Amino acid sequence: MADQWLTTLLTSGPQEGFELAIKLARMGVKYTQPSAEVRDRLRPDYAENADSLTAVSQVVAINFQTIAAANGYWRG
Ligand code: HEM
Repeated sequence: MADQWLTTLLTSGPQEGFELAIKLARMGVKYTQPSAEVRDRLRPDYAENADSLTAVSQVVAINFQTIAAANGYWRG
């Protein structure tokens, strides 16, 4: 089992929430493909592919919806 890296969905504001959304997406990739060597090898493909970057953006947006809801849309 991995180290504890996700302790709360609560963030101090939307930007930190967006950064957490990216973290969740990246951790999803890391759990799915534990080999750093393989991830390093695949990185240039997605980094230079507009459709891959759009897909990345969509995953982050979905996570952001969850985090924003969990934080009551930071309405305070
Ligand atoms: C780098 C996000 C999918 C491999 C990065 C960075 C971000 C990011 C923000 C830049 C980090 C920095 O420069 O500080 C994401 C998100 C993903 C995703 C949100 C999915 C929704 C993937 C996939 C792979 C991958 C599918 C490979 C299988 C890497 C690698 C780096 C990287 C190797 C370079 C790390 C470094 O050079 O420090 N990613 N990524 N990522 N990503 Fe992704």
